[in-house]
Amino acid sequence: MIKAIVHVDKNWGIGRGNDMMFSLPKDMKFFRETTLHHTVVMGGNTLRSFPGGKPLKNRVNIVLSRGHVCDECIFVRDYEALKRELKTRKTEEIFIIGGGQIYKELLPYCEEVLVTKVDAVGGAEVFFPNLDEDVNFDCVDEGTPVEDNGYTIRFTTYKNRQVKPL
Ligand SMILES: NC(=O)c1ccc[n+]([C@@H]2O[C@H](COP(=O)([O-])OP(=O)(O)OC[C@H]3O[C@@H](n4cnc5c(N)ncnc54)[C@H](OP(=O)(O)O)[C@@H]3O)[C@@H](O)[C@H]2O)c1
Repeated sequence: MIKAIVHVDKNWGIGRGNDMMFSLPKDMKFFRETTLHHTVVMGGNTLRSFPGGKPLKNRVNIVLSRGHVCDECIFVRDYEALKRELKTRKTEEIFIIGGGQIYKELLPYCEEVLVTKVDAVGGAEVFFPNLDEDVNFDCVDEGTPVEDNGYTIRFTTYKNRQVKPL
């Protein structure tokens, strides 16, 4: 099953300056626990935004890039190669982890989207598609407010009514 996992601000913003907008320990814990030992898919910018440009530990890291090389990752050069790779992993839990370009392109293939909503405006330059305006997506869990490093966050879940096959 393919899912996306993301945190967004009030405007569905996800990042600026190739970095996150907020430091959210509880959301980081949720992200780690949810994705651990599974497969994560990201774009080159997101990989470069990690400390030392290193992939995430204890997960299979698939990176879409036109040129970047990293020994601990599976690199794919275009979306066709990515889809071929994902088709070989049909039984695995696959998480699309960003960033903006990759979310937008792969959203139709996601059965579920785990959206952590941050009740703040982060001055984003990169955005996630607004799922509340997408007729294909239903919010099936609105979560409850939780305090995280001075921010109010909610762990919400959206389901895709029309999942596109790979
Ligand atoms: N809030 C969250 O949950 C969250 C999660 C993840 C990321 N983010 C944020 O999102 C931002 C990064 O997003 P982004 O949209 O700039 O970048 P991105 O989606 O992470 O990566 C874009 C890169 O993917 C590769 N790519 C894209 N289309 C391709 C294609 N058709 N063929 C081959 N390679 C392709 C290219 O990599 P190369 O340049 O290597 O060729 C491109 O530069 C950062 O601010 C990051 O912190 C936020």
